[in-house]
Amino acid sequence: MKLEIAPSILSADFGYLAEAIASVERGGADLIHIDVMDGRFVPNITIGIPIVESIKRVTQLPLDVHLMIIEAQDHIQSFAHAGASMISVHVEAHSNIVSIINSIKSLDIKAGIALNPSTPISRIDDVLGLVDYVVVMSVNPGFSGQSFIPQTEAKIEALRSRLKTIGSNARIEVDGGIHTGNAKNVVRAGANILVAASAIYNAADPTTATEELRNCALQGQRT
Ligand code: DX5
Ligand code: ZN
Repeated sequence: MKLEIAPSILSADFGYLAEAIASVERGGADLIHIDVMDGRFVPNITIGIPIVESIKRVTQLPLDVHLMIIEAQDHIQSFAHAGASMISVHVEAHSNIVSIINSIKSLDIKAGIALNPSTPISRIDDVLGLVDYVVVMSVNPGFSGQSFIPQTEAKIEALRSRLKTIGSNARIEVDGGIHTGNAKNVVRAGANILVAASAIYNAADPTTATEELRNCALQGQRT
């Protein structure tokens, strides 16, 4: 499966977003990860629909929208129209998760289910056969710059084997605390999409940081 690097703009300077995005494009980024937070599901407020529309105008890369919000069903269509190619929603934030996943899919974009570090894989059993990708949070969502939770590796392994059992090719996206020191191990465990905010945008050169993250991640790929 193809390995994808998804820089998260959460650690970029929002006054220079277009430049921040161009810098990771030059480094070979595959996706732009956009963290949407509502101050309710998580204790932070970030990006809304107008910003996604603006980002869409400055990049050809697919926009990977991570919704850390409650009542996502009310906003999915707007994010898709704004330019999202992929939308993930949190299982902890909804009771009607099957219908939300189906409504994302009905918009002809990729649907992802995200789970917090303390949420067991069994919580997403109902949608595992439906989703295009699973977002395994390796920090508690809300802020960039936190430390990777080491137990995530075993969770990714268990999820990969569960997906295999049900015959699903869903991708596994890992999000939180990813850097050149742990990229290889999460890929070896079964992750295909690596999100990174601080490791890329707090680096001296986001272009080089994107390239380096991919090089480290590739070392974990099984041949
Ligand atoms: C956390 C967000 C992440 C965050 C990652 O709530 O979902 O995407 O931006 O930031 P780093 O890579 O700095 O942990
Ligand atoms: Zn995210």
